[in-house]
Amino acid sequence: MTEHDIDGLTEEQAKTLLESLSQELAAANTAYHSEDAPKIDDASYDAKKRLNAAIEAKFPHLKREDSPSDQVGAAPSVGFGKIKHAVPMLSLANAFTDEDVYAFADRVAKFLGVDVTHLQFTAEPKIDGLSLSIRYENGHLVYAATRGDGETGENVTNNVRTITDIPNQLSNAPEVLEVRGEVYMSHADFVALNAKQEKAEQKTFANPRNAAAGSLRQLDASITKSRPLRFFAYALGAQSAPLADTQLGTVATLKSLGFSTNSLMQVFENVADMVDHYRHIERSRADLGYDIDGVVYKVDALDLQARLGFRSTTPRWAIAHKFPAETAWTRLREIEIQVGRTGALSPVARLEPVNVGGVLVSNATLHNEDYIKGLDSKGNPIRGGKDIREGDLVQVYRAGDVIPKVADVDLSQRTELEPFDFERKLEELNIPGHRKPGDAVWRYAGDEPMDEVAIEALKHFVSRGAFDIEGLGAKQIEMFFSDPDLPIRHPADIFTLQHRDAQNIPKLANRTGWGERSALNLFQAIEDKRQIELHRVIFGLGIRHVGESAAKVLAQSFGSWENFRASMAAALPGTPERAELEGIDGIGPVMAESVVAAFQSPQAAEKIDELANHLSIKPAEQLGQSDSPVAGKTLVFTGTLVKMTRSEAKARAESLGAKVAGSVSAKTDLLIAGPGAGSKAKKATDLGIETIDEDQWIELISDQ
Ligand code: IVH
Repeated sequence: MTEHDIDGLTEEQAKTLLESLSQELAAANTAYHSEDAPKIDDASYDAKKRLNAAIEAKFPHLKREDSPSDQVGAAPSVGFGKIKHAVPMLSLANAFTDEDVYAFADRVAKFLGVDVTHLQFTAEPKIDGLSLSIRYENGHLVYAATRGDGETGENVTNNVRTITDIPNQLSNAPEVLEVRGEVYMSHADFVALNAKQEKAEQKTFANPRNAAAGSLRQLDASITKSRPLRFFAYALGAQSAPLADTQLGTVATLKSLGFSTNSLMQVFENVADMVDHYRHIERSRADLGYDIDGVVYKVDALDLQARLGFRSTTPRWAIAHKFPAETAWTRLREIEIQVGRTGALSPVARLEPVNVGGVLVSNATLHNEDYIKGLDSKGNPIRGGKDIREGDLVQVYRAGDVIPKVADVDLSQRTELEPFDFERKLEELNIPGHRKPGDAVWRYAGDEPMDEVAIEALKHFVSRGAFDIEGLGAKQIEMFFSDPDLPIRHPADIFTLQHRDAQNIPKLANRTGWGERSALNLFQAIEDKRQIELHRVIFGLGIRHVGESAAKVLAQSFGSWENFRASMAAALPGTPERAELEGIDGIGPVMAESVVAAFQSPQAAEKIDELANHLSIKPAEQLGQSDSPVAGKTLVFTGTLVKMTRSEAKARAESLGAKVAGSVSAKTDLLIAGPGAGSKAKKATDLGIETIDEDQWIELISDQ
């Protein structure tokens, strides 16, 4: 029955129908939101809602108290479910030069306290695709997920089952095995796919990577099946038993289990041979038939990998040696000024669009005033001191997904162009700015907060590493920012949106570009983020110098929002709180100043508190085992350690849930003092803090 068939409905029938529709729609909402398992599709949901509304219009007195027309609760929207990775999917630190690779090997050796000549590393191509984690239980493929933000990815199981390189069953595999690797598309398949798409007047793809991503993220698995996706396996996630004791052995076993692995992977005894292999792979690049963007080096021994562990977002035991960036020459049309969320005024090159390694580039960063002048941060010449002018022919380069940059200028092509005057440009644009001595960056200096700054701050707030609100992206932020009826000017406004909309006469659902469904979906997506991890809140505040990993470090150190908030208010220069903040590994004085400053102005603090009041901020999960003897404790190492390097001891303590501080204070729980300990040991004694030596330390953690 549809809304067009209700003419002959009796009152009794209408009443029964309204009752069953109310139940069906409520069940659909629950299935979608709480169980993450939609029971009916979008179209049927809409039809039921329309039918309900039509009956209500005909029999207004029968409208129920719990009428679905008045319910806020989004309907099923098509999309992928989420999967939390059992072991996070991290990214890799980059090396750009041979020296960076030597430095990497030295760092590894130093951390482990061994001579670099004792280490072996694998080298293998870095595939330019998208990473995937496939979980097998008792040999059956149970699910597959994209990387997502590293912690949670999208459930693409049905699509992955259609990829021929990926076995659906494994024989002789451990009970739990997560196989990780890269989904990619070969050059030949990419060209053929684009030709096919063009013929069918369908969207074509910019490069094989985009084609692979677009093909994997299809809601209809039969489309994925029709796309020629491939997969290289190169690592493991969760595993109930190891496959081998080396990286090389693991990959060999993956091959014997039926996966495609890369034949260019080899193991090396020294760095010179590793970079030779890099050159070899670089030379073969054009003949491989698929895109790679560098070479990945990994410590071969898995026990050493385990000892080396991870920094917040990258492993200590691997690095990606990137190939030099792709370049192209084009005309610089104009230099514009972009206002960042912290008020930084950054020059951006608007270019004649040009193809750089398969991607159409029309903007590039110019960093700052000095970069345009041809000077580095110390005032030394770069590009041979050549400046950049509007109208110049410039060389643009891009490496991976980073923002393209302007590398060089062709002076022979320059005719009567004026040098670029940053200050005058700001005057023309009517932007008050200032540049402090010693700072490379011009900053907004107006009395009134600038709209662009607030907009950028909001875009950052809803971005992926922060609140990541589905349906509230850059475009929507700009719309809401200047919306007269339903404005979002500060992050806190996001969380009053639904309430304000309910009181408005022009409802969001009635605007162009919006409907009842999309408005409800947005409100639900916002609702879903009221409960949020501490590090996302800290990152979302958009504090200068505080990126995603620093936010994670702060969240780990302070544990709860209340603790963090109170400490920031107290951590003025010279206080013990400030010393504690600066002593956190990975923070330091500059960042400490920046974080504390973010809470100092009463207006800013008020806005932050207003936001926090709308949220339920989850305390940071303590790393490692909470039952370890050092979990939750603050440790300080001093003096010389002989059985473990200082770095390893620190990493180990952190993985057991302890905090490691650089200086002794009343908050220190335990001092580990090796020979030669000086003032720290004395201070600990004065404060009555327990002190142990290295052997006692090893004993303490030995069973963990
Ligand atoms: S190992 C703990 N090996 O590069 C990280 N990654 O920039 C383990 N990638 O997210 C990654 N080829 O998607 C590894 N041979 C390879 C790779 C590779 C491509 C990707 C991977 C990762 C990204 C990091």
